[in-house]
Amino acid sequence: MSTVVANTDPDELFANPRLVALYDILNGDREDLTVYADVVAEFGARSVIDLGCGTGTLACHLASEGLSVVGVDPAMASLDIARAKPAADRVQWIHGVAQTLPRIQADMALMTGNVAQVFTADDDWDALLRSVEAAIRPGGWFAFETRVPEARAWEQWVPATTQRVLDVPGEGRVETFVELGEVNLPFVSFRHVYRFLDAPSPIELDSRSTLRFRSRSEITESLINAGWAVHDVRDAPDRPGKEYVFIAQRGN
Ligand SMILES: C[S@@+](CC[C@H](N)C(=O)[O-])C[C@H]1O[C@@H](n2cnc3c(N)ncnc32)[C@H](O)[C@@H]1O
Repeated sequence: MSTVVANTDPDELFANPRLVALYDILNGDREDLTVYADVVAEFGARSVIDLGCGTGTLACHLASEGLSVVGVDPAMASLDIARAKPAADRVQWIHGVAQTLPRIQADMALMTGNVAQVFTADDDWDALLRSVEAAIRPGGWFAFETRVPEARAWEQWVPATTQRVLDVPGEGRVETFVELGEVNLPFVSFRHVYRFLDAPSPIELDSRSTLRFRSRSEITESLINAGWAVHDVRDAPDRPGKEYVFIAQRGN
């Protein structure tokens, strides 16, 4: 039987200001977010909730296009970076978790960057689905991605494939890599390591995470049980075969 691990606080890499400052540099041009901007346009959503918005790249982009946007994240250090981005003043930022949302009545909720996998416990996942349902309007949409378990992404989460040295303004060189920890499916634990090479004395910080890899059928069943209709399950065009993009619709 699998161990159920509840994530209660955001991981250090989202919550420690020194590590969050590296997030956008590490994640590059965010081609992965195009899928969501396209889905928003396809379904004609004019008001959107970005759940687990992190450093706010998508939320700010959508706000700059004239949409009404709410960004939600429990990591204050991530929201601080988000608030400094262009168009951030047009976003309503909520410091909180996606399992307890106000009744916003938005057209669509989004979860990018595999946020879906942070809800490791069944109770949290079910609470999330119900909370989103109450936060969007009847007939509204929920689009999110989650890694395909069969693609076994974690096999690449090792120093040999993840090691990089970044040039970070104000920090100098920062070496970073990922070390795989326990794989006890559906749970996978790993550690991000950050070495601040140009600090006056050597500093190494790390951030431990555990993600849950749910199967397509498991997610479909949980959505239906929570009252959603599964409208589509797509491939992410920039990550073929690696992630499911679920699009669910709230009943009327
Ligand atoms: C991998 S990051 C993705 C951030 C952003 N969506 C993106 O695409 O860059 C995961 C985010 O989920 C947030 N998170 C963790 N637990 C959460 C929860 N219970 N509710 C909402 N967001 C949560 C973290 O703080 C972090 O910002």
